[in-house]
Amino acid sequence: MGFATDAIHAGVVPDPTTGSVMTPIYQTSTYVYESPGKSTGYDYARTINPTRSALETNLKTLEGGRAAYAFASGMAAISAVMTLVKAGDHVVVSHNVYGGTYRLFARVLEDYGLTFTYVDTSRLDAIEGALRKSSRMVYVETPTNPMMVLTDIEKVAALCRGRGLVSVVDNTFLTPCLQRPLDLGADIVVHSMTKYLNGHSDSVGGAVILARDEHAERVKFVQNSVGAILSPFDSWLVLRGIKTLPLRMRAHDENGQRVARFLASHSKVERVLYPGLPTHPQHDLARRQTRGSGGMISFYLKSDQAAARFFAPLRLCALAESLGGIETLICQPSTMTHASVPPDERRKLGLTDNLVRISVGCEDVDDIIADLDLGLSAA
Ligand SMILES: Cc1ncc(COP(=O)(O)O)c(C=O)c1O
Repeated sequence: MGFATDAIHAGVVPDPTTGSVMTPIYQTSTYVYESPGKSTGYDYARTINPTRSALETNLKTLEGGRAAYAFASGMAAISAVMTLVKAGDHVVVSHNVYGGTYRLFARVLEDYGLTFTYVDTSRLDAIEGALRKSSRMVYVETPTNPMMVLTDIEKVAALCRGRGLVSVVDNTFLTPCLQRPLDLGADIVVHSMTKYLNGHSDSVGGAVILARDEHAERVKFVQNSVGAILSPFDSWLVLRGIKTLPLRMRAHDENGQRVARFLASHSKVERVLYPGLPTHPQHDLARRQTRGSGGMISFYLKSDQAAARFFAPLRLCALAESLGGIETLICQPSTMTHASVPPDERRKLGLTDNLVRISVGCEDVDDIIADLDLGLSAA
């Protein structure tokens, strides 16, 4: 089936009891056994829940994986993936991943004997240079949050395959609607479903989608053993949100292109980071690897003082963390989403106070532009 058809239908079958067209919220913790030791296939709701299973089948189909597992947050999903490596192992990571991912790696997992090297994964030689005997995984975010640096997934996946490394791609920003890392050879995709997949800023969730059965078995085991599962209600919300994913992503992409062009032409804006603009250094890769650049744009104002003045007049764009909702959200990464990255590291990455990140929503684009113009007039 086509992507839009799968988004609406994959994993969803009429409820066997009532014929309900929409998957019910199976709000139960346990199920009746047919006889001692003989369950219906459903025994305990941490292990399996029909609403979550419907969502997991849907996710597996959209990303083209062998299996998918839904977690209580994006960070829970990433934590589950990191159980594929163990004490003594080394991981190469994109150097400006989401701040929470950096915090998990640097301040939690290093205490358990894992080591991480952060490199510019847009450069294959930088990845190769960082590899050690103990390297087991390459963890990539593309585009990165918030610097919008792309990594060539096909090349990184091939490098990993040649050296027996696991390749992981955080596909939160583009979703399978605009980018399918498993088709390009990656082993694992992770998502914060809090963002575009759910799309309505009313649920926190995460997902892991896997191309290989041996990884899938382990992640399934960890999902049940650790227990950071997505609730039935949140599973239902995301399943419902995904039905409009293709429509929303088209609108995010169209509005993103318009807003990026507006910002790029504005005298108060120093520089725009958006792979959909021909001025982005990796525009050609964006055209090859993705089916659109979506709604995430970062831009530099001319000074930190200008940034301090920019946010106050905004009325439509909500000053908030997170992204990927139907409404436009805007933030200052250095003080909000990436405050957990040490100041020195932030400076090195270009994560300065005059950097603004916008998650362009699906409102009328002229209204978004008019609101940004108000902020820029004050900047
Ligand atoms: C790219 C990316 N990955 C992962 C996460 C973590 O997801 P969650 O907040 O759902 O735990 C985020 C959160 O902002 C993110 O932006």
